[in-house]
Amino acid sequence: MSIENDFALIQDFDKNYCLQVFNLLPVAFTKGKGCYLYDTEGKKYLDMIGGIAVNCLGYAHPKLTSAICSQAKSIVHACNYYYIPEKSELAYRLCRASFADKVFFCNSGAEANEAAIKLARSYFYYKDINKYEIITANMSFHGRTMGTVAATGQEKFSRPFEPNVPGFVHVPYNDIDAMIEAVNPKTAAIMLELIQGESGVHPADLEYIQAVRKLCSEKGIIFIFDEVQTGIGRSGKMFCYQTYGVVPDIMTLAKGLGGGVPIGAMLTTNEIATGFKPGDHGSTFGGNPLACAAGNAVMETIEQEGIIDNVQEVSAELFEKLNKLRSKYNCIRSVRGKGLLIGIEFDDTITAQGMREQLFTMGILVSAIGKSTIRLAPPLIITKAQANQFVKALDKILKNTAGPKNVFDKIKDALPTKKQVKESAASIGSAKIDKLDAAGLTAPKDVTPADDDE
Ligand SMILES: Cc1ncc(COP(=O)(O)O)c(C=O)c1O
Repeated sequence: MSIENDFALIQDFDKNYCLQVFNLLPVAFTKGKGCYLYDTEGKKYLDMIGGIAVNCLGYAHPKLTSAICSQAKSIVHACNYYYIPEKSELAYRLCRASFADKVFFCNSGAEANEAAIKLARSYFYYKDINKYEIITANMSFHGRTMGTVAATGQEKFSRPFEPNVPGFVHVPYNDIDAMIEAVNPKTAAIMLELIQGESGVHPADLEYIQAVRKLCSEKGIIFIFDEVQTGIGRSGKMFCYQTYGVVPDIMTLAKGLGGGVPIGAMLTTNEIATGFKPGDHGSTFGGNPLACAAGNAVMETIEQEGIIDNVQEVSAELFEKLNKLRSKYNCIRSVRGKGLLIGIEFDDTITAQGMREQLFTMGILVSAIGKSTIRLAPPLIITKAQANQFVKALDKILKNTAGPKNVFDKIKDALPTKKQVKESAASIGSAKIDKLDAAGLTAPKDVTPADDDE
């Protein structure tokens, strides 16, 4: 039996047999190629959300497809009782590309964060130091397991499942004073996203991350970067921390790493890795040959095909065009993000769900976050022409639903914002860093912060 091309039947089976935990759009995709998806009726869609930042090489990429097929013909699964060549190779690739010395593989972002939380605690346990508290940010998102909903700084994700796992403290994001105040002798780790993706695409400030790094180093606190969404080229660097001029002690990855094949990873240093002894942690499927073969193909393709350069180029043009739309229409409040993780926030006249649905009817896929923001996280192979297709569609929708700006708005737009004035007075490369230096807040000199796309 196959229900593959009968959409009514697919819907019926889903409603009757799948747990209803998602708000589904009325479509099922049966084929993909590059940045396009095709539904059961053969209608073509431009995918501007990429399976929520997962399908970094798009659909049916020849190198990824061939790696998966050839691995499936040899060994799909071999358990962690034995050495797994694909796993060793992927660990090597990840360490070579990052700050890390050691990698633990699992199956998802939440599991990678669970591993990070456990490691941060067990590291101090084995040193006989009573530190267990983990500080995370308000409005963060770290996953759906009991540990990661407790870590997540949004009550709606944990309230129905109380009592929560204890030992988590939440502080306002981008607020160094609040962070300093929250740190205490029990603080084992600080875990942050460098761009808060699930709560509206809010990037962390450069000064904030550098100051938290300094705080962690001074107080012997483990700094964890949750790069589940921002890692693997998404930010315009292989890892988003490389745009901040600092390194973490632990980093978690998932989403893009397998290009669509489920895989998660926790990366750390040799020193912090002493916190896991054999038997302390594990996973039946983690590091499985099929998932790691996909991960190797993704890493190799990104490195060999100039995909990071593509992210930077398409991103620069996309931000420029979106900001032009912002000057044209009052209803666009802000355009935020880095690389190809972008949030577009509207005012009260436009709902994110409504915009998502209108784009959908025009054959473009995005995600809606909260009431007012749509998120873009397209495949990293997207072309400028494809990105422009999205901008034109957005322009068309806004032309019909929102009036253009009046002359006063245009004058206001032409004036620099307070933030721009501050930034031009102290550019990232020179004066700003000098100021941080004077305050003793910069990272080691051998790492240089990159430009912010915003
Ligand atoms: C920053 C971040 N951390 C963790 C997760 C959880 O990942 P997963 O859904 O693979 O468990 C997500 C998922 O969106 C995420 O964006």
